[in-house]
Amino acid sequence: MPSLSPLVTIRDLNKIFESRKGLFGEPRRMTAVNQVSLDIPRGQVTGVVGESGCGKSTLARLVLRLLEATSGSISFDGVDLLKQSHGAMRLLRRRMQMVFQDPYSSLDPRYTIADALLEPFKVQGIRLTTAEARQKVEALFAMVGLDARFAQNHPHQLSGGQRQRIGIARALALEPDLMVLDEPTASLDVSIQAQIVTLLEKLKHELGLTYLFISHDLNLVRYFSDRIVVMYLGRIVEILPDAKAAPRHPYTQTLLDSTFAPDPTQRRDISRLTGEIPSPYNLPQGCAFAARCRHARPDCLSRRPVLETRSDGHAVACFHPLT
Ligand SMILES: Nc1ncnc2c1ncn2[C@@H]1O[C@H](COP(=O)(O)OP(=O)(O)OP(=O)(O)O)[C@@H](O)[C@H]1O
Ligand code: SF4
Ligand SMILES: [Mg+2]
Repeated sequence: MPSLSPLVTIRDLNKIFESRKGLFGEPRRMTAVNQVSLDIPRGQVTGVVGESGCGKSTLARLVLRLLEATSGSISFDGVDLLKQSHGAMRLLRRRMQMVFQDPYSSLDPRYTIADALLEPFKVQGIRLTTAEARQKVEALFAMVGLDARFAQNHPHQLSGGQRQRIGIARALALEPDLMVLDEPTASLDVSIQAQIVTLLEKLKHELGLTYLFISHDLNLVRYFSDRIVVMYLGRIVEILPDAKAAPRHPYTQTLLDSTFAPDPTQRRDISRLTGEIPSPYNLPQGCAFAARCRHARPDCLSRRPVLETRSDGHAVACFHPLT
């Protein structure tokens, strides 16, 4: 019987960044991930969506412990991640991998594609014979739908889509359970994006993977995800229990409207249409979305709404939800 407990359980996770204003300025503190609590169910796609700077990548890096949390807890398959030693963490990393937006920056231009695919084994101290290495490389190429003749090529000889397939193959090399996909298609043309999403769906079914899928594009996230987490300025403002659920938070509705805009130049720039995003260094006392919210009332300015979950699993942090 497969266990029904979530693969990852995140509770009250915070990440504070400190920076200096000027050479002699006071340090400024910014909470990039703010009291985030979230379950990532096994074998499902949990989508995370929000505008640039809302903390998506920071959350992703915290989950893999590529970044140390300021406070909170993360449990991976029952193991308390934040309490693990470096050695234990290294072993656990075999089970959790990340695919980045720009595969080019994560592939060393001096090495061949075969070297890139074998690097995870080296990092983990797993020795392979020449025959085993060749077999692994061939199997990974097949898995991501690439011809193994690319093995001796260098990253610059591949197209963006091919490079992202290599990024995915490398993440699969150690047979992980969890794949954190941080905007894996954002740097690709629309037609190539669709191919990569189709590949990711196929791999998920074939290998029983669990995905944390990050994107600023709610339309794409709705297509791909089982559950959707909406972030705004470091906080979760809504969790849609399924991709078809109607948004209850005005911000999610705005994201949805903007992703459907036929003119691509209109899609991301929703700040001009709906007001300014507050500075993450100086958040307002009330709802952080109030300055941009068409539904704001006076009470929204004085108190901050907390995330409340309905019995159907739909969670929203808003005093006046849409439904
Ligand atoms: N190492 C760091 N030091 C200081 N601030 C940081 C650091 N990394 C991220 N930040 C800040 O934390 C906030 C969240 O950044 P993050 O990269 O997580 O956002 P994001 O949602 O992934 O954005 P994007 O869609 O542009 O990738 C931003 O304001 C960013 O400037
Ligand atoms: S709490 Fe008020 S300002 Fe914030 S999203 Fe809801 S209606 Fe808008
Ligand atoms: Mg990011």
